[in-house]
Amino acid sequence: MNNLTKKIIKSLSDKEIDLKDDWKKTLDKNGYIIIKNSKYMKQNLISLRNEATKLIEKEGDKGGWEGKEKYFKPGKRFESGAQRLGGLVNKHSVFLGLITIPEILICAEQIIKSEIKICGMNLRNPLKNLGEQTLHFDGFPRNSEDESYAGIVAFIYLDDSKISNGAMRVVPGTHKLTGWPDDHININDKHPKEIRLEVKAGTIVVANLNLWHAGAINLSGEARKVIMLNIKNRDHDQLLNYKKYLNSDFKKNLDENQKYLLSVRESDPDQIIESGGSANQLRREYFKNKNKKFTSVANN
Ligand SMILES: [Fe+2]
Repeated sequence: MNNLTKKIIKSLSDKEIDLKDDWKKTLDKNGYIIIKNSKYMKQNLISLRNEATKLIEKEGDKGGWEGKEKYFKPGKRFESGAQRLGGLVNKHSVFLGLITIPEILICAEQIIKSEIKICGMNLRNPLKNLGEQTLHFDGFPRNSEDESYAGIVAFIYLDDSKISNGAMRVVPGTHKLTGWPDDHININDKHPKEIRLEVKAGTIVVANLNLWHAGAINLSGEARKVIMLNIKNRDHDQLLNYKKYLNSDFKKNLDENQKYLLSVRESDPDQIIESGGSANQLRREYFKNKNKKFTSVANN
């Protein structure tokens, strides 16, 4: 490990950081941590919300298809029960700023214990009476407890999240289990130990990619826009191939930390596929090989 991740984190460490003393223990025990007072979020929440709202309006059904454009058909949403946005890093500088929030990078390094890479940044807003998902995780199953974790997803809340607008369900501690959730439970059922994450706009929930979770139905129809920032071990594919997808002017204007985190430096390896690393794709293959019934979780 050449420790570039650690150097980047150190370069950001003069900033005010909202992590309690027991953050490592909480992350290890529960598989997620709630960050309520990120300085970046305090300063940029309004702008993030405004830019996201404008993009949702502008993109309509085309929202969220970045890297998977060949599957798009007019009138076909990326996810039937939610408004989606994809490829956010180059759509406004306020989104790009999310990739260097120190609290997120510190937690990512703690879980991954290796060099890290930004693998995707998408937004999801469940529609009225829709948005229910089955329990799933966004990572890859581990075959043994000694195997390292693939990464993290940071849920960045642009609106308040309440039971009435579909606060996410999570099952604390499940990141430690090996295999897919489907190997342990009927993923269509409610889990006896699941809890709902009711948080205020501006909150960040950093979760281990192996934590079982699910979107819940938005009964009130009130907006619940959440940006999902996906960070993985550098060995894994990106959900969006940034080296290929981002134009050269944009890449040229990035600072060295951003270039490294997005893996778009000349020296970074070329990813062959445009969109990779989807847990749902892997799960589908696993079920095909086992001749088991596959239930889609709509997104990951
Ligand atoms: Fe998910």
